[in-house]
Amino acid sequence: MDRRAFVTLSAAGLVSALAGCGSEGEGFDLGKDVNAPKRLGFSQVGSESGWRLANTSSIKKAAGLREIDLTFENADGDQKKQIAHIESFIDDRVDVIAFSPVVESGWDDVLRRARDAGIPVVLTDRLIDSTDTSLYVCSIGAEFISEGNLAALYLGNTFAKAKTPATVVEILGTKDSTPTRQRSEGFAATAAKEKRLRVVASEPGDWTKAGGEAAMRKLLRKHPDVDAVFAQNDEMGLGAVSVLEDAGLDPGRSPRIVTVDATKAGLQALVAGKLTYVVECSPEFGDDLMDIVVDLCLGGTVPRRVESEKAVFDKVSAEDALPDRTY
Ligand code: AHR
Repeated sequence: MDRRAFVTLSAAGLVSALAGCGSEGEGFDLGKDVNAPKRLGFSQVGSESGWRLANTSSIKKAAGLREIDLTFENADGDQKKQIAHIESFIDDRVDVIAFSPVVESGWDDVLRRARDAGIPVVLTDRLIDSTDTSLYVCSIGAEFISEGNLAALYLGNTFAKAKTPATVVEILGTKDSTPTRQRSEGFAATAAKEKRLRVVASEPGDWTKAGGEAAMRKLLRKHPDVDAVFAQNDEMGLGAVSVLEDAGLDPGRSPRIVTVDATKAGLQALVAGKLTYVVECSPEFGDDLMDIVVDLCLGGTVPRRVESEKAVFDKVSAEDALPDRTY
């Protein structure tokens, strides 16, 4: 059988099999010979944070170790660029396409093209907003909602004995992206249950230190009495720290600062007492992605969802973790 015809048939079979499929996933086989080169096209969000750089190196390193022929593109935070990358991967007839979507909506047309060309798509890190579950075969990444839950749980416990709810401000990542939306949702849901936190304002900080600084400046002007800051990543939290220090406050203690990612810089600031608590979001899922690429090429069960690991850190556990932290 002609390879392309086989691929198309397999993809069609997969599409119907995956509709309503649970996390166990289904078998898939691009019909490749064990020794034939396996070609992966990957489009990355950008280079906005330490997390992202670590994610890029995890993917490149794992592809090298598994001898997967990787075409790596960087979208610099631009969805149009990412769509163009996917189109060029389709024209190039790579075996598998993977990408970390800059935003959640607007993917249906290009992903339909990939599906119709028989090229399976794997989402990494972030998700898409589409009712068509056949547009991707698998997603790999962290549970962002629970990261928000954990941040609020910690702050709720911290202020358990306070007479009135603590005043909390939030520094958000980029607009319309999965981690921004879900971390906020998780934080708000737990805060509503705990009843000890009052989220009074939020500002976008675009995942960067400079963005975190600008956001914190605005938030502090409106809420000089802030008790706690939830910054959705380490960089933005570190930006908040420098603004709060310049304002003569004692960040880490007053206000408390909770961040997500657990990069080396985040854990160092935690040990130094500048941050109060950090929720881990591991960027190191390159090996998981390459396992899926190999399974898709050679035949095997592809899980619908692969979750990356997480932990939480306070000052003491950060000290223990730092010597082995690779990013
Ligand atoms: O999608 C993951 C988020 O994107 C990370 O938490 C943040 O640092 C990054 O840039």
